[in-house]
Amino acid sequence: MSFFPGPGLDILYSRQQIAARVAEMGAQITGDLNGEKLVMVGVLKGAALFLSDLARAVEVDTTFDFVAVSSYGAGQRSSGAVKLIKDLDQPIEGKNVLIVEDILDTGLTLSYLRKVLLNQHPKSLRIATLLDKPSRRIEKIDADYVGFSIPNLFVIGYGMDYAERYRNLADICTMPPDHPE
Ligand code: IMP
Ligand code: MG
Repeated sequence: MSFFPGPGLDILYSRQQIAARVAEMGAQITGDLNGEKLVMVGVLKGAALFLSDLARAVEVDTTFDFVAVSSYGAGQRSSGAVKLIKDLDQPIEGKNVLIVEDILDTGLTLSYLRKVLLNQHPKSLRIATLLDKPSRRIEKIDADYVGFSIPNLFVIGYGMDYAERYRNLADICTMPPDHPE
């Protein structure tokens, strides 16, 4: 008997589809690095599961770091303001850096992070996002690696939350606006 996730949530990408796409992204990132080392910078908390899978699909010498930015607030709406809550632990000057994010939505978060990290003069700075919602963009920014490009849907699971819940769903699901929570 399963009590989770409960009714009303439809699967958008299954765990199998996610695994297959993450493997492809890892192979592409591996090829682009040409044997050079990598620093993966995960954006807490949503990208934690994606980073853990992507890291195992990348076949180069890789270290992890994590940043946290001010979140979306408790619900589905953005507050608009972005600030750094947790900075990098290690300097990234001269390193190949890959920002690993769950969703590229308005672009406010990644534009801000890109600016902050570029200030430290990495050798290269690329962005991998699992999901991209291009129709929502406010800041002009593109990711170098995109798992899936999706329309304007609110999604949960595989690290992504609604009010901190549902991050542990193994599939990416859609959350209808009238969902009872
Ligand atoms: P942006 O700054 O608008 O690009 O927002 C990026 C952040 O908003 C993502 O890292 C997510 O944490 C959050 N976000 C955007 N869309 C969704 C969604 O559909 N579900 C859960 N979180 C989302
Ligand atoms: Mg996020």
